[in-house]
Parts: sequence; C-alpha cells; structure tokens
Amino acid sequence: MKKKQKYFCKFHSQLDLPFLETSNESLKEIFQILELEFGLKRNSNQKLVDLGAGNGNIVIFSALYYGIKSYGIEIDQSLIKEAKKRIKSLKKKGNFDNRLFRKIKIKFGDFYLHNLKKYDFIYIFSLPPMQKYLEHVFSTAKRGAVIISHKFQLSELNSFLKYEYTLTYKKNKQEIFTFLYRKVS
Ligand SMILES: C[S@@+](CC[C@H](N)C(=O)[O-])C[C@H]1O[C@@H](n2cnc3c(N)ncnc32)[C@H](O)[C@@H]1O
Repeated sequence: MKKKQKYFCKFHSQLDLPFLETSNESLKEIFQILELEFGLKRNSNQKLVDLGAGNGNIVIFSALYYGIKSYGIEIDQSLIKEAKKRIKSLKKKGNFDNRLFRKIKIKFGDFYLHNLKKYDFIYIFSLPPMQKYLEHVFSTAKRGAVIISHKFQLSELNSFLKYEYTLTYKKNKQEIFTFLYRKVS
C-alpha cells in the first residue's frame, strides 16, 4: 500500500472505529468461557485473530496464557509499535516460556480485506454502524468458527452467524457484555 493510501485508510478507520481497549478482567472471563464451552484447547494449533488488534492486548493474552496461535490485524502503525514494545518488555521480564512469544503475529492491514478461513476464533470489538460492512469479511470464516464480539451484538450478520452465548460482567457498576456466535453457513 502506498504511503498516502495508508494514511487515508488509517484516518477513515479511526473515524469508524477508534482504539478502545478490552480490559484484562473481561479477557479472563472470555477465555474461560471459550475453554469451557467453545472448545478452546490450550497449547494447541488453534488460531485466533483479533480484527483491529489495538495495542495487542488480546493476542498477547491468548498466546501467553492459552498458548494458541494469535494473529492481530491493525491499521494504526503507532498501535502496532506499542504492541511490539509491550511484547519485548514482557519477553525481557522472563515470566513466560519464550516459545509462546512466537505464537504472536501482529500485522499492519485493513480487516475489511482480510480472509478469515484459517481461524478457529475471531475476535472483534467494533461499533454497530460498521457491522453491515463486515458481511463479506465474516462470510469468509470457516463453518464452526467462533466469533467473539465485545460489547456489541452482531445483529446485522444473522444470516450466517448463529448466536450462542452472552457473557455479562460488571465494571465500575456498569454492565459489560460479550456476545458469542458460531459461523453456520
Ligand atoms: C475498539 S479497538 C479494539 C482494540 C482491541 N481489539 C481490544 O479489544 O482491546 C478497534 C481497533 O481497530 C482498529 N481498526 C479500525 N479500523 C480498522 C481496519 N479497517 N483494519 C484494521 N484495524 C482497524 C483501530 O485502530 C483500533 O485499534
């Protein structure tokens, strides 16, 4: 992608979907339920992708605590830099097996152009107005893939995503939801 094009894509995406972080508390609950109810197997070859990886929070968590292959697609280079810095500093601390860090891949890219067929788990924290534009993206996911949508339902994609579960938790007296779906056709 040319430099000007890159800046345009970043600018446009930031209007649609700014950086907001999924908290670690939420992540713990989400991964617990993925393991208990949705077939997540620790230290397996399963693959997770975070569409809009931000500072890498999700992919770092899934690789280091669950040992699965974790891919992040992010359009903002400064967030990718931040994620890489975090990974480096965690590596330096030496609290995790070095092999786990090899399971993290964060790439610059536009998730509207990403093919999802290789992933078992697809994570997204998007905003409702953009969901109708995601149909062609989710249509590439394989049958049986689990889609995790943080905070907002994916109600526009009912034709091929089957709703399966809502996780509810409280943060500062506010209720937060995560919705889980399965790709069915
Ligand atoms: C709400 S944040 C979620 C960050 C992270 N997934 C989390 O839950 O902590 C959405 C992220 O998507 C990125 N983003 C927005 N549009 C994008 C696009 N078209 N392709 C890739 N990333 C995008 C933003 O830069 C931002 O970091």
